[in-house]
Amino acid sequence: MTVSEVVLAERDGAVGIARLNRPEARNALSADLMERLVEVIEDWDADDDVRCIVIAGGDDYFAAGADIKAMRERSFQETMANPTSVLWSRLAACRTPMIAAVSGFALGGGCELALICDMIVASEKAEFGQPEITLGIIPGAGGTQRLTRVIGKQRAMELVLTGRRVSAQEALAMGFVNRVEKQWFEAAVELAQVVARRAPIAVRLGKQAVQAADETALAAGIAYERRLYELAMATEDRLEGMAAFIEKRRPEFRGR
Ligand code: HXC
Repeated sequence: MTVSEVVLAERDGAVGIARLNRPEARNALSADLMERLVEVIEDWDADDDVRCIVIAGGDDYFAAGADIKAMRERSFQETMANPTSVLWSRLAACRTPMIAAVSGFALGGGCELALICDMIVASEKAEFGQPEITLGIIPGAGGTQRLTRVIGKQRAMELVLTGRRVSAQEALAMGFVNRVEKQWFEAAVELAQVVARRAPIAVRLGKQAVQAADETALAAGIAYERRLYELAMATEDRLEGMAAFIEKRRPEFRGR
């Protein structure tokens, strides 16, 4: 466990687990929580021994969004100068796969944090939403963009313009979450362990390739995928993976 308590960082083998820990404010994403989270994630991203990351909240709330009490005091000028958008970009730049483990509320910035992750495992009582409109603002950390890409324009429009929250089951039906599990935290860590066992370079290339689908037109995306595939073919790990298949044994990937 680390010094800062707003984010509890621990390791489970090759999986880094960051737990948001501001229960008194429903894990509202204060500036120091965001700074600490980015610091933890970047440290793991630079560490070859960390192959997958889980970001989790508590049983009743993943995160209730940006800290409304701090936002209430923030002037327009401060908002313009505020560096938090840089923190969000740094999270999105993480090359290691990230899995959000969501139970309870993931609202506003909390929902955006889950959306920045590459996969979402939810508990049966998870609730997602972008309630910013009820505060007289709109999402400011990718909520309108990532959500629209995941669930489509009409549905995203409804959630962004009404602030309605969706249940875990509805989120599952929308393709917003990967799975809904009673043992949500354990299931997220287990999923992370599966990714962590795969060839590390291929995992990063795979993440990059899938992410590119949101950024590029089809032909350019396919050309980009081909380049990344060629890189994967240049690794030692793919020789090991293929030899292991032929020899009917488990591969031993080394990240080379
Ligand atoms: C600051 C918050 C907070 C938040 C809750 N609290 N959410 N403080 N920022 N986002 C505080 C409350 O003020 C209260 O403090 C304590 O946590 C408990 O909250 P309750 O409402 O009493 O708890 P509960 O009844 O369990 O309801 C939980 C909740 C509700 C459904 C999550 O708190 C809620 O609706 N919160 C706001 C959600 C929201 O609008 N998020 C969007 C934020 S804007 P006291 O001092 O009274 O004990 C945003 C923009 C992102 O995220 C932009 C990114 C750049």
